[in-house]
Amino acid sequence: MYGMIHQALRIMVLQHVEEAEWETLLRTSDHTEPLFIGMEYYSDATTMELIHLVSAHLRMPLDDTLRQLGCVWIDFAGASEYGRILRMAGDDFVSFLESLDRMHASIRSNMPKAEMPSFELISADDAELQVRYRSTRTGLAPMVQGILLATAERFDERVEVTYLPEDGGALFCIQRKSLNG
Ligand code: HEM
Repeated sequence: MYGMIHQALRIMVLQHVEEAEWETLLRTSDHTEPLFIGMEYYSDATTMELIHLVSAHLRMPLDDTLRQLGCVWIDFAGASEYGRILRMAGDDFVSFLESLDRMHASIRSNMPKAEMPSFELISADDAELQVRYRSTRTGLAPMVQGILLATAERFDERVEVTYLPEDGGALFCIQRKSLNG
């Protein structure tokens, strides 16, 4: 994946430990550079290796690590050169979810090697939203959970997010708490 994801991982780690510890951690992997280049492409194996290292180092279950990474991702992307794309992607939570594929497609012209996920809004009412997530990768559903939680917050919605794993992705169920008070 593009180095942006590793930059977000670093920010997440720095919420728990000092910079020096992150650098030590990287040295236990193949990476000697403490910073990653956002626009450089790294293999998925590298990305997953780093996420596993962080999980073990912070003694945090892999799912929690991915969820926290997802939460950080939204702030990170919002502060990046893509912040405008994120802010323009829908006036409310539902239209935001509907625009995710378009949003990723527009980023793709800058990141030709990216393998973007896809999201399909299956149903939406005041109580619950269902979104189908599809990806060529496995194991990232908890990250999606984190991103959805952080995104709901941007739209002042209080939600609970659960998912059922499926072949090639997962079906997300977003319970909306805030609309009915
Ligand atoms: C401005 C905001 C965003 C930017 C710039 C962005 C960009 C990217 C990029 C570059 C990748 C890596 C693809 C690759 O290297 O192969 C990615 C992956 C991903 N994005 Fe986004 N994204 C944004 C917002 C979101 C949002 C709001 C979601 C909502 C759920 C999301 C979900 C994901 C997931 C789950 C992946 C992991 C790849 C996979 O599942 O296969 N992203 N995104």
